[in-house]
Amino acid sequence: MKRLKAVVGLLFVLVVLAPFALFASGQDEGSETVKIGISFGTLQQERWTREREMMEAYAEELGGIEILVQSADSDATMQNRQAENLITQGVDVLIVIPQDAEASGVIVEDAHAAGIPVIAYDRMINNSDVDIYVSFDSVKVGELMSEYAIRNAPTGNYVILKGGPTDNNAHLVYEGNMNVLQQYVDGGDIEIVSDQWCENWSPEEALQHTENALTANNNDVQAIVTGWDGLAGAAIQALAAERLAGDVVVTGQDADLSACQAIVEGTQTMTVYKPLSDLARAGVETALALAKGEQIEYSGTVNNGFKDVPAVLPEIFAVDATNMVDVIIDGGFHSMEAVYANVPRDQWPE
Ligand code: BGC
Repeated sequence: MKRLKAVVGLLFVLVVLAPFALFASGQDEGSETVKIGISFGTLQQERWTREREMMEAYAEELGGIEILVQSADSDATMQNRQAENLITQGVDVLIVIPQDAEASGVIVEDAHAAGIPVIAYDRMINNSDVDIYVSFDSVKVGELMSEYAIRNAPTGNYVILKGGPTDNNAHLVYEGNMNVLQQYVDGGDIEIVSDQWCENWSPEEALQHTENALTANNNDVQAIVTGWDGLAGAAIQALAAERLAGDVVVTGQDADLSACQAIVEGTQTMTVYKPLSDLARAGVETALALAKGEQIEYSGTVNNGFKDVPAVLPEIFAVDATNMVDVIIDGGFHSMEAVYANVPRDQWPE
């Protein structure tokens, strides 16, 4: 009898209590934590370091998230290796800012083979089965720049400085540029006298291209449409050497601090502001939802050559000296002190 009781007792423990023990262990803190791997093409440009901090801060605020970051210093091969490493570390979901839109396709294959969903963050991974695209509308970025340039330089010679040719966004921005400019080229109002790529978004190349364009055209250039504030800064440097800074329309994107300063000082004309905190939050929220298998709200789809990728696309804004305070400073992106640092205090806006 005693032995029977012992056997029944053991069975009770195994059959009735064991599942609770397993369940309880599934609820402990460690296994509840969602591990998000983030693979940056580079962290050497202002926006990406800010986004890393924003994503980490937001994850901290939400709790229960561990973030693992890798950055590839603009080297696509290194990025693939680093992503492989994140996959081996058992992340639940992978956020990729690809250096190379094509070469990063293997990251998606490898992650999927390990059952890990992938988010293309800001930059598309082309011809791949990527799960979701969290970005801004880069064609619209290019259109905003060109519309602004045409309003301020309706005739004359244009220089175009495109970003890195392996970055899908550089192509989209250019597509947007030409959506607006082509009709003015065809109508004979403007002439594009130089149209160049800048490898890995290199400001050094942008400087070289601008110097060459100025020399070849005897400094007769009315607008420089650049794909990013870092390229705009280089163009302004070339203009300044010819005492032309402030006389030529110069566009950019990202609202980097130095660009916002140049805008209120009058040497850069405009930038396209993309609210990075909206994107960073969307990135973390989407990653969480994917990891937990929850429904995600998309704004639309974007084709990447393989499929229509569900996309989350926050709004963007053209910024010049007239709305710097409203959009950038009141929006909390940069402080008044930082943007107007080189402007005498009595000339600061109210
Ligand atoms: C991003 C831009 C950024 C550029 C250079 C692009 O893919 O969309 O915001 O300025 O890369 O890093």
